[in-house]
Amino acid sequence: MKIAVVGSGYVGLVTGVCLADFGHEVVCIDKDASKIAALERGEIPIYEPGLAALVAGNTAAGRLSFTTELEDGVRDAAVVFIAVGTPSRRGDGHADLSYVYGVAKELAHAVSGFTVVVTKSTVPVGTGDEVAHIIRSTNPDADVAVVSNPEFLREGAAIEDFKRPDRIVVGVEDERARAVMAEVYRPLYLNQAPLMFTNRRTAELTKYAANAFLAMKITFINEIADLCEATGANVQEVARGMGLDNRIGGKFLHAGPGYGGSCFPKDTLAMVKIGQDFDSPMRLVETTVSVNDQRKRAMSRKVITACGGDVRDKTIGVLGLTFKPNTDDMREAPSIDIIRGLLDRGARVVAYDPQGMKAARELIEGVEFANSAYAVAQDAHAVVLVTEWNEFRSLDLARLKRGMKTPVLVDLRNVYRHDEVAKHGFSYVSIGRPQ
Ligand code: UGA
Repeated sequence: MKIAVVGSGYVGLVTGVCLADFGHEVVCIDKDASKIAALERGEIPIYEPGLAALVAGNTAAGRLSFTTELEDGVRDAAVVFIAVGTPSRRGDGHADLSYVYGVAKELAHAVSGFTVVVTKSTVPVGTGDEVAHIIRSTNPDADVAVVSNPEFLREGAAIEDFKRPDRIVVGVEDERARAVMAEVYRPLYLNQAPLMFTNRRTAELTKYAANAFLAMKITFINEIADLCEATGANVQEVARGMGLDNRIGGKFLHAGPGYGGSCFPKDTLAMVKIGQDFDSPMRLVETTVSVNDQRKRAMSRKVITACGGDVRDKTIGVLGLTFKPNTDDMREAPSIDIIRGLLDRGARVVAYDPQGMKAARELIEGVEFANSAYAVAQDAHAVVLVTEWNEFRSLDLARLKRGMKTPVLVDLRNVYRHDEVAKHGFSYVSIGRPQ
């Protein structure tokens, strides 16, 4: 089957490459000529484990190609995925749909024959209706069916998530489109991944509901962690005790510095706006958003307290900058608020991240960068573990301590145990666990 994917960002690129790997003939389209040129040379614009090899293999097999020309790319396609960005609109938090609608307009005259247009981008309820309206009003002869097929992949595990999804949600209003989408996902069907057909609005809302619920689950355990600190309980054991109940489940119950990334912050905010638009307030999500924002800021105060209440002219080492491991994505990363909070209080901050330093340089002013965890610790009055990259999980604690001015370790991901760190003479602060 011939498939075009418009937008070669995270979701678009992973979708295109994986669909090619299923045996479909895929063309990935993006307006950014330098991105397309790089992809044609086999260079991947994002850090995602396994993606480079998959691009190389499928390009060599002739199933995957890249272009900047939307019209050429979609002409013979039976299915066109729209996977362009839907960032938060400046000022009001609504999802900015200008890119999605721009593509819909361009598609109207470019497609030929019956074409299924699929929104993969996370879009508010009713966007599919608007996409269909734009295409039909631009070209009344266009024979298209608009489908919603939200993506649930996680950065850092994107290929695995795409190929072995918990479920695929497809919102269709048209029997022909339903048959085409079943064919697109047939290889996964054979893997027994549940393919759930529903209507378009339900599919659109399902994506937001899932992300908001996960964000709420994380925020819930983060508040429990605070309560554990106040009462002397242990959040990891509370999470385990809760998670063993199948109705709750143990995943997404790791307390930490607050969620970040390109999805949860943007999607929770957009969901609040959708609730307001439809006069159906999403109060739990509103609270989740504000509790998480406050938490990210509160983490710098936690570091300051661990340093005796004052960080002026002290050196604080930061391990990990990206919003989570195995990505180079810095969007809404808790490290940004934490570092700014420390700089504001007069600290000198030295940071290291295996992949995030390039983006961090442009985002955070006044921070210095080092090239290893041990270099970060040099002359530091405290080291703060912000992102749980594997290379920070088994640090040589004796070596880390050797260069430090005062051995204070603030572990915002509960990677270490109190006894093993204390053994090396560290003063140790973690999240929601007794000291
Ligand atoms: C998230 C969802 O997990 C995906 O299902 C969804 O497809 C994606 O958003 C999206 O909408 O595109 P992602 O943002 O890549 O994926 O990352 P997650 O692994 O979900 O982590 C998000 C944030 O929550 C990170 O900052 C992470 O550190 C934090 N988190 C996660 C916790 O603090 N505790 C947890 O237990 C889990």
